Amino acid sequence: MASEFSISFNRNIQSRICGSENLRDVAALLEGEREIYVVYDENASHFAAEVVGLLDSVKGCFAIDTSEELKTVETAVLICRRLMEAGASRKALVLAVGGGITTDLTGFAASIYKRGVRYANIPTTLLAQVDAAVGGKTGVNLDDYKNMLGVIVQPQFTFLCPEVLRTLPVRELRAGIAEMLKTFLIADSAAYSEAVTTLPDTKTPVSVPERSKNDCPDTKHPVSVPAGLILKAAAIKAAIVERDPYEAGERAKLNLGHTFAHAIEHEARMRGDDIVHGEAVAIGIIMAAEMAEREGLAENGLAARLRADFKRLGLPTECPYETLEFVKDKKAADGKVTFILPVRPGEVIMKAYDLHHNTE
Ligand SMILES: NC(=O)c1ccc[n+]([C@@H]2O[C@H](COP(=O)([O-])OP(=O)(O)OC[C@H]3O[C@@H](n4cnc5c(N)ncnc54)[C@H](O)[C@@H]3O)[C@@H](O)[C@H]2O)c1
Ligand SMILES: [Zn+2]
Repeated sequence: MASEFSISFNRNIQSRICGSENLRDVAALLEGEREIYVVYDENASHFAAEVVGLLDSVKGCFAIDTSEELKTVETAVLICRRLMEAGASRKALVLAVGGGITTDLTGFAASIYKRGVRYANIPTTLLAQVDAAVGGKTGVNLDDYKNMLGVIVQPQFTFLCPEVLRTLPVRELRAGIAEMLKTFLIADSAAYSEAVTTLPDTKTPVSVPERSKNDCPDTKHPVSVPAGLILKAAAIKAAIVERDPYEAGERAKLNLGHTFAHAIEHEARMRGDDIVHGEAVAIGIIMAAEMAEREGLAENGLAARLRADFKRLGLPTECPYETLEFVKDKKAADGKVTFILPVRPGEVIMKAYDLHHNTE
């Protein structure tokens, strides 16, 4: 049953977030479509097959391999070529089934194919459900530069279904939880408290493989995320994007923890360390809270409180590096680095600093 997470498809919301406990409810959103093409992540093939089985009008179904190395314009062109070979017309709807790499690539390919056809998302990672597949930013990497080519085009809908997370590796789930907490810290203190009290500890339980593959789709994930929290986080991002689609101001708040996270990821790449983005974001949020306290901007004890909450959920909280090198902000005035700093749960401020900051 749809329960607390019934479809809330609101055509007035640009980002068109909707969801259900049941994957099959997506069929109602695709009624009347005559020409659907599905682009899916191999690791989400079970869910793509389930969706395709519900629809009469799927004219083509293409699997893609996902990695940052393959998130390129060449792969987007490959998707376009497959659409062309399958005879996709300007009336086509391209449905992405996968994580953020799949939704970014598919949205981009659809937006340039024949000068733009419609696309929709069924995100299958928690990170894509609360972040990547919401807001209409699509794109691909260029050489070593992430998301250097892209367009902002809103999907027809982003369908959120917790069912598809049951095969997600625990580490990917943890990364999504970090982004979810980030969103709540920006705008919703009640949701933050609900999340930290209801989400389970994600430290990998012994019985769960670190990478549970799609070839065991009936695996019941011991770590489940309440559907209501997923919808709340996505709706907060959607609302911010609706108010500030081109990142003229408020949308930058979504970068809470990210100035530190990008510096941590940069250092990890240089040293060959294995830190995923969501883990760096978790550490980055704690560092932002410490900085906000040092600057007298945050309520007392905020960093300690967040650290305890994050630890309980199995998120990393300590920066493994003594010094970090910050990337100068393209948008800020000369040589400045912008930080989003938490004041208290539900409130952040944006500040640009002229600094060669380190983390001692
Ligand atoms: N457009 C935006 O606004 C935005 C925002 C944040 C991140 N992003 C982008 O999103 C990407 C990261 O997204 P992601 O974390 O979802 O990465 P991803 O797409 O690489 O997915 C993570 C891993 O999970 C696998 N997977 C996906 N669904 C699965 C499932 N249900 N079961 C088992 N395995 C599954 C994938 O194959 C992959 O190995 C980055 O490229 C980032 O740049 C975009
Ligand atoms: Zn992020």
